[in-house]
Amino acid sequence: MSITLLWLLYIFGCHHQHSDEEGSSLADGSANSCSSNQTSEDIEDNEVAFLRRRIQVLEIENRSLYRKIEDMEKKIAEHNKVNAKRPRTSHLLVPLLHASTVEIEKSELDEVLVVAKASRENLNATVNRLLEAVYSKTFLGSHSLSGGVPKTRKKMSTRPNQTVKPGLPKNDLDDIIRFVKNTWEEIHGDVLPEKNCPVRSAIKVKLSTEYRALKNTYK
Ligand SMILES: *[C@@H]1O[C@H](CO)[C@@H](O)[C@H](O)[C@H]1NC(C)=O
Ligand SMILES: *[C@@H]1O[C@H](CO)[C@@H](O)[C@H](O)[C@H]1NC(C)=O
Ligand SMILES: *[C@@H]1O[C@H](CO)[C@@H](O)[C@H](O)[C@H]1NC(C)=O
Ligand SMILES: *[C@@H]1O[C@H](CO)[C@@H](O)[C@H](O)[C@H]1NC(C)=O
Repeated sequence: MSITLLWLLYIFGCHHQHSDEEGSSLADGSANSCSSNQTSEDIEDNEVAFLRRRIQVLEIENRSLYRKIEDMEKKIAEHNKVNAKRPRTSHLLVPLLHASTVEIEKSELDEVLVVAKASRENLNATVNRLLEAVYSKTFLGSHSLSGGVPKTRKKMSTRPNQTVKPGLPKNDLDDIIRFVKNTWEEIHGDVLPEKNCPVRSAIKVKLSTEYRALKNTYK
């Protein structure tokens, strides 16, 4: 398309310039932009004229490309509207707490809450179910509560190059603990202690359980 336009503009430009000169300089035949002999000034004028026309072409092309993008964006927006209408409850991710980076499938969160509501004795089971909903078993088995070398192993420095598991993401951990505490207070009216926090203990146990399971799979 741009080639055709360029050509059209070129023809138009020659014709235009030609007709301008008709009155004054047609007789001596000088400064005809389409003729083969021109002064260097004429050549520069033509160059400028050519570049201006090129800009016009590019502007036209620019507008047409913008229009194309607009059309496509409209189509995409319509497509997304259609998709949003489809029920996708099984894959609906919700933040664990307001503005939390921890996301959980809505249906899984419902199950966690069912376990939590069933009994105040279900703290460990609730934590387990929650961790399984948020992370893969491999992730759980390869992370520790806070990272670093376990206390019991620090003494056993006879074992070199032991792998130190990284800690769960700090923000995740805080949110998970806060979520369980809030839930326990809301459902059972229990304020869980800050010291020797039972949620932390439950997470620790779950991580080492998954670690052992993972080790056994790769034996
Ligand atoms: C114009 O072109 C003709 C032949 O093509 C040449 O003889 C003449 O010298 C040219 N004039 C100028 C001003 O370049
Ligand atoms: C290209 O076209 C768009 C939409 O018409 C306009 O907003 C923009 O300024 C143009 N860009 C240039 C470089 O002319
Ligand atoms: C939960 O796990 C902790 C840590 O292993 C344990 O001490 C506690 O007895 C467990 N609670 C229940 C109700 O099973
Ligand atoms: C143990 O770690 C040291 C450095 O941290 C390294 O040079 C050495 O090769 C490692 N040994 C094994 C068996 O991986």
